[in-house]
Amino acid sequence: MSANGTNTVEEKVRDHFHDDAERFDAIYDEKKDFIHKFIDNYWRGVVQKRLELNVKYLSPFRGKKILDVGCGSGRFCIAFALNGAKKVIGIDFARAMIEIADKLATDAGVENKCEFVIGGFPEGISDDEGPFDACTANGFFDYVEKPVPIITRMRELTKGKLVMSFPKAVEWRVPLRRFRFWLKGTPLFLYTEAQVREILEQSGVTNFKFIHLDRDYLVVADV
Ligand SMILES: C[S@@+](CC[C@H](N)C(=O)[O-])C[C@H]1O[C@@H](n2cnc3c(N)ncnc32)[C@H](O)[C@@H]1O
Repeated sequence: MSANGTNTVEEKVRDHFHDDAERFDAIYDEKKDFIHKFIDNYWRGVVQKRLELNVKYLSPFRGKKILDVGCGSGRFCIAFALNGAKKVIGIDFARAMIEIADKLATDAGVENKCEFVIGGFPEGISDDEGPFDACTANGFFDYVEKPVPIITRMRELTKGKLVMSFPKAVEWRVPLRRFRFWLKGTPLFLYTEAQVREILEQSGVTNFKFIHLDRDYLVVADV
């Protein structure tokens, strides 16, 4: 709670994703009716494309230790583990997301390689847990008020690659997306390409590939 008695951005985002965890994870579920499949592909197809590109850019995985910030229901962590990562830590402050992640990792048989932490980033990951070969944050900066300290910390914890997505501020779905989040009272942060480049510079990230991916920018950086 902030000094004036209202919920902070982090509390609003955490509560939103705690309540929305099952619906969010259903985006990845192949077993759904035609209408839901069509809506998810058309409206949220970027979620699946991000996962595929993360796997592509982080391969090969063998022996790697990876941190996934804002891991949600753990779909990325599980894919990294199934592709051969030695250890994956996922952190998310929405408890219901981590409960789904734990169950999905067990179902996939990678519970020994995946560790899921209920907590906020950056405070929830200590220096002792690093360094990581890669650190990812997908569909995460949409909900972050101050990205520079977060990316700076991701860079400090990593000796390898960062993969991060940023939602575009100018895109045909933006007005409706803004309206939906406004109705729910959930904060939403969108970025121009110039803003992302400025944020990366302020965070000390200089060597990166900038990819236009549907409604997102995807940044793949060497650190
Ligand atoms: C849209 S979900 C994306 C989940 C996952 N990365 C994916 O793409 O499937 C964003 C997640 O970030 C989490 N989150 C946002 N800010 C956070 C913070 N500062 N610390 C930990 N988790 C955070 C939310 O709880 C939410 O589950």
